[in-house]
Amino acid sequence: MNADTATSDGRVLLITGASTGLGAATARLACADGWRVALAARSQDRLEALARELGESERALAVRCDVTDWDEQQRMVDSTLAAFGRIDAAFANAGFGAPRGFLNSSPEHWREMILTNVYGVALTIRAAIPALRESRGHLVITSSVAGRRVLPGSLYSCTKHAVTAMGEAARQDLHGTGIRVTLIEPGMTDTPFFDQRPSNALEAEDIARGVLYALTQPPHVNVNELLIRPTEQQG
Ligand SMILES: NC(=O)c1ccc[n+]([C@@H]2O[C@H](COP(=O)([O-])OP(=O)(O)OC[C@H]3O[C@@H](n4cnc5c(N)ncnc54)[C@H](OP(=O)(O)O)[C@@H]3O)[C@@H](O)[C@H]2O)c1
Repeated sequence: MNADTATSDGRVLLITGASTGLGAATARLACADGWRVALAARSQDRLEALARELGESERALAVRCDVTDWDEQQRMVDSTLAAFGRIDAAFANAGFGAPRGFLNSSPEHWREMILTNVYGVALTIRAAIPALRESRGHLVITSSVAGRRVLPGSLYSCTKHAVTAMGEAARQDLHGTGIRVTLIEPGMTDTPFFDQRPSNALEAEDIARGVLYALTQPPHVNVNELLIRPTEQQG
C-alpha cells in the first residue's frame, strides 16, 4: 500500500515514550481512531501490557528502545516496518525532567536528560525520515511550554528550547518531501512525569487529542505548533 491508497484505518503511528503518560494516551486514542501503533520505551513489561490492551499483533507492537542509543532506534524502526510495512507518523515524545536549580540534581541526571530529551529526539527524527519520505508522513515532536519560556534554573527548559528549535529545523529541512512536522507544547499535564500529582493540570488525553487533531488534517494542512495549557496555568 502506498500513501495514495492509505486511509485513516490501518495507518501506522510510531511513538517513543509510549509506556506511560502522553505517549500511552496518544496510543489509545490513535488506536480508537483506526491507527496501528508501534509502542517504544525502555519498560518492556508496560509496553507489552499496553499492546495487549490495544489488540496485540494486529494493531499494536511493543518495541523496547532506549532513545539515547542509535542502534536501538534503528531496530525500533526496522521492527515497525517488519510488523506493519509502513510508518505514516512518528511521535518523538520520550523525555523527562530534573529539579530546578543549577546546584540541584546530579551531573549524571543532567547528562541522561540531555541525551534523552535532545539527542534522543534527533535520533528518532533521523531514524524515521526514510520511512516517512516513503509515506509522505508526519513527524510529531513533544516540546513543552518550557520550550517557549525560560524557567528559572531549569536545564529541562533548556532541553525543550532545543526541541522547539529542532521542530522548526526539521520542518524547513523536510520542506518539499511531503512530510509534515508538528511541535506539541504541553503545559502542566497530570502524568508520571511528576513525582507528586499536580492540581489544575491537563489530562494526558487532552494532549493526545491535540496530536490526533494535527495527524488527521488533510495533507495540505501542516499544523506546525500546538501550545496547550490548562486554563488555570498562568506562566
Ligand atoms: N507532563 C507534563 O506536564 C509535560 C509538559 C510538557 C512536556 N512534557 C513532555 O512530554 C513527554 C512525555 O512525558 P509525560 O508527561 O508523558 O511523562 P511520563 O509519563 O513520565 O512519560 C515519559 C516517557 O518517556 C519514556 N522514556 C524516558 N526516557 C527514555 C529513554 N531513554 N528511552 C526511551 N523512552 C524513554 C518513559 O518510558 P520508560 O521509562 O519506560 O523508558 C515514558 O514512556 C516528555 O518529553 C516530557 O518532557 C510533559
